[in-house]
Amino acid sequence: TYVVTENCVRCKFMDCVEVCPVDCFYAGENFLVINPDECIDCGVCEPECPAEAIVPDSDDSAASWAELNAKYAALWPNITRKGTAPADAEDWKDKPNKRELLSS
Ligand code: SF4
Ligand code: F3S
Repeated sequence: TYVVTENCVRCKFMDCVEVCPVDCFYAGENFLVINPDECIDCGVCEPECPAEAIVPDSDDSAASWAELNAKYAALWPNITRKGTAPADAEDWKDKPNKRELLSS
């Protein structure tokens, strides 16, 4: 499965949701997650993210985020259409330590 990781926090560009063939993205206030039970591992979303926040779960950077994706996929609503990204999304791109800023 693929996993949304830290760099999505406060960026939430949402290009990813438009390309997923199985619509398995779920949206929080400032972060998106992938439902691991629905993802078919196609990899189409990975290059679409301007923040490079999507990685395969085999990637080192996915480690603690895989669990978080599974958890919030069960709680947040499904999203299939790109909305408006936060006005300051570009400013937050590649900023470190964004995990604590994730709104649940
Ligand atoms: Fe959707 Fe494919 Fe990305 Fe999984 S890897 S979230 S199925 S686009
Ligand atoms: Fe997040 Fe990238 Fe999608 S910033 S909302 S994973 S396009």
